[in-house]
Amino acid sequence: MRKTATTPSGGTIPAQPGPRDSAESGIVSVEGDMSGGSVPAPVPAAADADAVILGAGPSFRPGEQATVRLREAGPDDPPRYAPEWLELREGVDAAARAHDLLDPLRIRLANLPGRAGLVIHDVGCGTGSMGRWLAPHLDGSQHWVLHDRDPYLLHFAAVASPRSSADGSRVTVETRRGDVGRLTPDALAGASLVTASALLDVLTREEVDTLAAACAGAGCPALLTLSVAGRVELTPSDPLDTEIAEAFNAHQRRSGLLGPDAITAAAEAFSEHGATVQVHPSPWRLGPGESALTAQWLRGWVGAAVEQRPELRERADRYLRDRLAACEAGELHVVVHHSDLLALSRPTGGAS
Ligand SMILES: C[S@@+](CC[C@H](N)C(=O)[O-])C[C@H]1O[C@@H](n2cnc3c(N)ncnc32)[C@H](O)[C@@H]1O
Repeated sequence: MRKTATTPSGGTIPAQPGPRDSAESGIVSVEGDMSGGSVPAPVPAAADADAVILGAGPSFRPGEQATVRLREAGPDDPPRYAPEWLELREGVDAAARAHDLLDPLRIRLANLPGRAGLVIHDVGCGTGSMGRWLAPHLDGSQHWVLHDRDPYLLHFAAVASPRSSADGSRVTVETRRGDVGRLTPDALAGASLVTASALLDVLTREEVDTLAAACAGAGCPALLTLSVAGRVELTPSDPLDTEIAEAFNAHQRRSGLLGPDAITAAAEAFSEHGATVQVHPSPWRLGPGESALTAQWLRGWVGAAVEQRPELRERADRYLRDRLAACEAGELHVVVHHSDLLALSRPTGGAS
C-alpha cells in the first residue's frame, strides 16, 4: 500500500512510491549510481505544509519550513527538490505543456533513419513527470534514459516510469546520475530526443550551452518545457504584486542562474549550434481546483522575494496571509507564465 501524506487542502500525495508502483512499472533496466540500490527513507509529510526552504517564508520562525518545494540540503549543496512538490505540480504541468510543439517533433522523429524505437533522454528528470506525460503522446517503442544529479529523485522516477507509448508499444527506462553541466555528445550517442521540464531556469548560461552543444553534437532534437517566463498575473490584483514579482525574479537570477532569462538564453545557445528553434507559451492556470498547488507556490514565491529583499518582510507577511485566505476561499486566480522550446538540431546521421 502507498504511504500518503495529507496536503494542506486535505488531498493526499504519496510519501514514496509503493510496491504496487514498482511491480507495474515496466522497468527492464535500472542502471547508474543509485546509491547502492537502498530504498530512501520516507519523505517528510507534506502536510506539514511546512517542509522546506528554510526561512524562506516571511511569517515562519527560524528553523520552520515554508514550502514543499525543496528538501533540506547543506549550505554548499545544490538545491534538492521535494518529491511532494513535483507531485503536486505534475497535473498542472501536464495541462500547461504546449501541444503545438508535438507535431513538428513527431515529424522529425518519424524521419529519423533506421531506428527500431525511440531513445529519449530526460535531463533533470526529478521523479519522471516528463516521461509520464510525453511517452503516451509518441508512437512506437521507447527507451527512456532518466538523468538527474539527485539519486533520491531517480529512485522515484524509476519506480513510477511510463509503461506504454501512444500505440501501446513497450516503454523501458534506465537511470543515470549526473550533472547536466558535464553532459557530452557521447553521453547522448544514439539518442532520438532530449527532453527536460522545469529545468532551464535553474541552470546557468554555461550549463545551457553545454546542453545545446551536446544535443548538436549528437544531432538530436530537444523538447525543453516549462521554463519560467518571469511574469505572473494574480486576480484580483494587489498593489504589492509587481514588487514581489520583481524581487522573486531577482532571487531566481542569484548565483548566475538564468531564472526568467532561460528561454532567451536557450534559444540563443541552440541557434548558435545550428538548431531551428520554436518557442510556445505554456502557462500554469491556477484556480480554485488547484488551491493546494497555489498555496505552496505562493509560499515559495513570496518567501523567495523576502529572502531577496528582507525589507519587504512586514508588507509581504500581510500580503501572503491575504493571498492564502483568498486561495482557501476559492477567490484567487493565478497565471504563472512559462515557455516551452523545441530545438531541431541538424541530424548527424544523414537525415534532414
Ligand atoms: C524543478 S525540478 C523538475 C523535475 C522534473 N523535470 C519535473 O518536471 O517534475 C528540477 C530538477 O532538475 C535537477 N537538476 C537541477 N540542476 C541540475 C543539474 N545541473 N544537473 C542535473 N540535474 C539537475 C534537480 O535535481 C531536479 O530534479
